[in-house]
Amino acid sequence: MHSKIIGTGSYLPAKTLTNFDLEKFVDTTDEWIVSRSGIHERHIAADDEVTSDLALQASLRAIEAAGIAATDIDLIIVATTCPDKIFPSTACILQHKLGIQNGGAAFDMQAVCGGFVYALNTADLYIRAGQAKTVLVVGAEIMSRMLDWKDRTTCVLFGDGAGAVILQATDVPGILAGRLHSDGRHHSLLRVDGSISNGEVQGDPFIRMEGQAVFKFAVTVLSRVVEEVLNEAGLTGSDIDWLVPHQANIRIIDATAKKLGLSLDNVVVTVANHGNTSSASIPLALDAAVRDGRIKSGQHVLLEAIGGGFTWGAVLLKW
Ligand code: UT7
Repeated sequence: MHSKIIGTGSYLPAKTLTNFDLEKFVDTTDEWIVSRSGIHERHIAADDEVTSDLALQASLRAIEAAGIAATDIDLIIVATTCPDKIFPSTACILQHKLGIQNGGAAFDMQAVCGGFVYALNTADLYIRAGQAKTVLVVGAEIMSRMLDWKDRTTCVLFGDGAGAVILQATDVPGILAGRLHSDGRHHSLLRVDGSISNGEVQGDPFIRMEGQAVFKFAVTVLSRVVEEVLNEAGLTGSDIDWLVPHQANIRIIDATAKKLGLSLDNVVVTVANHGNTSSASIPLALDAAVRDGRIKSGQHVLLEAIGGGFTWGAVLLKW
């Protein structure tokens, strides 16, 4: 038993915030943001949008692309660090919004920016264990609600969005290899400390990040984990047709591609248009490259991400 992605979808909220917009109320410049991160603009959810709304739009598009009925889905995994509520899970709320009443499982996965590879790898294992046949895997985030607009070191980097894929059981391998890692010793380098207790937010509710430390760690472990999945599948960097990395920073993406011996022509880069959307960034980029015809049947596609925790991982697919 194997699993294969049979449809992708994504959604970005209508409102955009450009670097030039930010210049008006943050001590920053378009030049600094572009040269340090590659970001030009980000999308911001409307006041009445919640994470499951973004997830719903991306999911409907993936379901349509896959040519299935929503009721075929027997497992939903939503990677998010911005759940609608503390509980129930955003995945259960999404299941309801999709009108699915078949008793299939639904749960959230919290691995911050590593969330989509965590969720996709988990979905593949469920299918290969025979516990699910058609899985909706979503990355959906409203990072803008956790931003301190007075902290220029973080507020210029993140944005909102959602992406989704339908993973289905098949006889031929689609997902060839997957590896996940974490190292909690670094949990304080990228974090939101606040929690809700007795009806009030306790502590700091905003994203705090030691950017340079995250950067250095990311470059090291991402090239290591992509080697792991390539070795597992018996492939090398030259076999990769498309690298679809977590879209946090063009310089991290560039460094990982170089270590793989890949030119940027073989890398899907969408960070300029939506910034760091955490767990949504890989399915957003994947959907863009599938819909514009860059990713074609039979090609090797490599996904990799790192996020707070730290969590990191990679998934290698034959499309
Ligand atoms: O998705 C999860 C993983 N997260 C990441 O991958 C993020 C990893 N880190 C990064 O992408 C980069 O470290 C950043 C983009 C966050 C920062 O780039 P950097 O080249 O590491 O810059 P820096 O933190 O070393 O800051 C350089 C300078 C500092 O000024 P001084 O001390 O040299 O005078 C900062 O105060 O840039 C200043 N700075 C800014 N200037 C204008 C920091 N933020 C800004 C800003 N606008 N927004």
